[in-house]
Amino acid sequence: MKKKLIIGNWKMHLNTHDASVLVHRLHITIPVHRSVEVVLAPSMLSLQPLSLEIDRRQFKLAAQNAYYKDEGAFTGEVSYDMLRDLVHYAIVGHSERRIYFNETLEVVREKTAAAVRNGIVPIVCVGDTSQERSEGESKRVVHDQVTTAVQNLTSEDISNIVIAYEPVWAITTFDGVVAKPSDIQDMLAYIRSIILDLYGAQAAEDMLLLNGGSVNPDTAAGYFSLPDCDGAIVGGASLNYKSFAAIVAAAYQVQHENPDNGGQ
Ligand code: PGA
Repeated sequence: MKKKLIIGNWKMHLNTHDASVLVHRLHITIPVHRSVEVVLAPSMLSLQPLSLEIDRRQFKLAAQNAYYKDEGAFTGEVSYDMLRDLVHYAIVGHSERRIYFNETLEVVREKTAAAVRNGIVPIVCVGDTSQERSEGESKRVVHDQVTTAVQNLTSEDISNIVIAYEPVWAITTFDGVVAKPSDIQDMLAYIRSIILDLYGAQAAEDMLLLNGGSVNPDTAAGYFSLPDCDGAIVGGASLNYKSFAAIVAAAYQVQHENPDNGGQ
């Protein structure tokens, strides 16, 4: 039975004090559900203090970024190797990193492999821009992003990774157009079919597929009910404990209504 996975991507918001306050509020607002895993992705600076504060049955931590070499003379970087005891997950290839920090397909592939090598589950983000969408290039772009990112992985590795479809046009800080559930389902099913072709049915079935972009308490349940949607990456709405708790509650509700999806 598959769990739902909800990631709060705090981006470059909240200093360590404010991060700690938000975690405190989330602790008392979000119940522990076996069928819903809740993951917080604070800034790099807050990972260490929050790792001591969180109840790990309730929340897991994710890094927003790291460098793919394990160690060396790379001033200013932090490696996946350094993060391995702190985080369960790492967001890789978010569109903001691809667009603002020029992360190429190859860099995303190296980072995905480095996360896996260090026992961290990569949440590989893929997505089309509004221009690519209007030119009818969405599937080609997503195909290239998915196939390059997973290139160095085995089918066993793939069973444990997460891929998030984040249409850039739906991310609040870019165009913020609310994606229709049918748009999301169409692309998630396509991504699963790519993995099926490359790595077989088991890997395609096991890996988790998320939706990202404008997920909020009003839109969440519509996405979580989709056959290929195993959860979400939440940006803006994860900074408010009430709206993030409402999104987690929506995931639980969908699981509860469809016991085949994970039951309690
Ligand atoms: P958003 O961001 O929820 O604010 O649209 C999602 C993301 O960028 O991960």
